[in-house]
Amino acid sequence: MEQPLRLAMAMLALLCVTRPGEAWQRSKPIAEGLKAATLPRDFWGDAGPKFPPTELRDAIRAQQLRVLDARGQQRRLVLMALIGAQPEAANAGMWSLFLESLHNITFIGADGKEDRLSSHLVAVVMAPPNATADACQRASGHRGVRCAPMHSKFFSTNQFTWWGPAWAALSYAKISSLLAALSLGVDVLFLDSDQVFFKNPVPYFLERDGDVLVSSDACMARDDVVPEGDLPHGMPVNIGLLYIRAKPMAVRMAGNWLATLVASETRWVGQTQGWRFYDQNTFHFFFSGMNADFKDKAPKYLSANVLRADRFPNLCTGHCGCNITRLKPGAEGVKMNLTAGGTCKDDVMRSWFVFHSPCVKVHSAKLPILKNLTAMYQRLVGPIGSLSEPLRLVGGGGAAQHKLSAATGSGGKAVSVAESKRRWLRAL
Ligand SMILES: *[C@@H]1O[C@H](CO)[C@@H](O)[C@H](O)[C@H]1NC(C)=O
Ligand SMILES: *[C@@H]1O[C@H](CO)[C@@H](O)[C@H](O)[C@H]1NC(C)=O
Ligand SMILES: *[C@@H]1O[C@H](CO)[C@@H](O)[C@H](O)[C@H]1NC(C)=O
Ligand SMILES: *[C@@H]1O[C@H](CO)[C@@H](O)[C@H](O)[C@H]1NC(C)=O
Ligand SMILES: *[C@@H]1O[C@H](CO)[C@@H](O)[C@H](O)[C@H]1NC(C)=O
Repeated sequence: MEQPLRLAMAMLALLCVTRPGEAWQRSKPIAEGLKAATLPRDFWGDAGPKFPPTELRDAIRAQQLRVLDARGQQRRLVLMALIGAQPEAANAGMWSLFLESLHNITFIGADGKEDRLSSHLVAVVMAPPNATADACQRASGHRGVRCAPMHSKFFSTNQFTWWGPAWAALSYAKISSLLAALSLGVDVLFLDSDQVFFKNPVPYFLERDGDVLVSSDACMARDDVVPEGDLPHGMPVNIGLLYIRAKPMAVRMAGNWLATLVASETRWVGQTQGWRFYDQNTFHFFFSGMNADFKDKAPKYLSANVLRADRFPNLCTGHCGCNITRLKPGAEGVKMNLTAGGTCKDDVMRSWFVFHSPCVKVHSAKLPILKNLTAMYQRLVGPIGSLSEPLRLVGGGGAAQHKLSAATGSGGKAVSVAESKRRWLRAL
């Protein structure tokens, strides 16, 4: 039997055998008309997203970037993020800072013209049935973003509060979107929008052999170079930054992941604890299963690495990230704090690709923190994007970009965007 067909049948079988458990029926509806138990069925049913999601597929094709990895192999790649249909004020601010940072990370496109990371972002709009992605497109189109809807009646509420109906449905939207890109043969960099980028992370991913690269909430040392068959145990991953290479086994991973959520229908553990299973805490299931079966052969099928905490920091790893210098994988790092002057150290910031803001209890506190980190970076290091490594694109640009890189230097000296362009022109 063809693999995709088998996969579809396995998922269907799971659906058929899964019935709402008693616990579900006893638990209170989490919102009017939206019982937790109906979520998986809503997602597969008539009111849920269409499979294949046509608009999403078109957006992925339009936004994909053709790149060469360090081994000279071609990859197609797209950035993806989820967004509510009507983002409320705090989210709107965060979304626009997120887009602005991606917009300011520039590189020379295949046509020799300036290109930007935000022009390769697909925003998946978590939309109620029949709603369009127009509001997102109006708010984000000037950054080159393309929006496509993913429908569910669970998105009729715009409250993405922890354990609420829309929050729970978000897991389904995320994995379905990943599946859409991976099954088109396009690598995905899936991003939460409560983060700000400082340099282009794509060259870093393309230098690595790991098929799946994910960030973590732990300030601990790890190796993100040698591909591993399992995720390190006892190291909480954060799927808010997740790179997945489009391989047949990656498609299967995403399919399994979705099926795990469908099966978790019976694991609703109450209003206060919500779902025992959601996207992030089920992510490692596939890897541990595959590793148990294949042991040291597992990396051949699908390898995974947790990204270095000093390069991909977040607020859980320290207000200024995490120091893991000279530590062995698994060793506890040192959380970095603000200096007496209220800033992070510039040499620490130079190694950052991004800063992500989980581990903040009050949602509205995230934006001021990210804005401060952005201002700090611009003041002490330089413009966003100025320390980016070159990106090798299929069909050219590569040589010119190497010159650009040499001219702007990653030696750490801050240069303005205008100055780096002047240097680049001189280098040509
Ligand atoms: C993006 O670039 C513009 C134009 O150079 C600049 O005004 C703005 O501060 C930058 N924003 C970020 C977040 O880097
Ligand atoms: C969506 O549109 C269809 C066809 O126009 C209509 O039958 C259906 O009632 C609509 N659903 C909602 C939730 O508005
Ligand atoms: C990071 O740790 C190393 C090794 O302990 C130390 O030498 C260095 O000063 C630390 N960096 C900062 C910024 O604290
Ligand atoms: C930062 O603060 C944390 C918690 O107070 C502490 O454990 C850590 O050692 C501090 N880091 C540095 C570099 O002093
Ligand atoms: C941001 O920086 C300003 C000025 O340095 C400071 O007053 C404010 O407390 C900071 N806010 C956060 C959330 O860090």
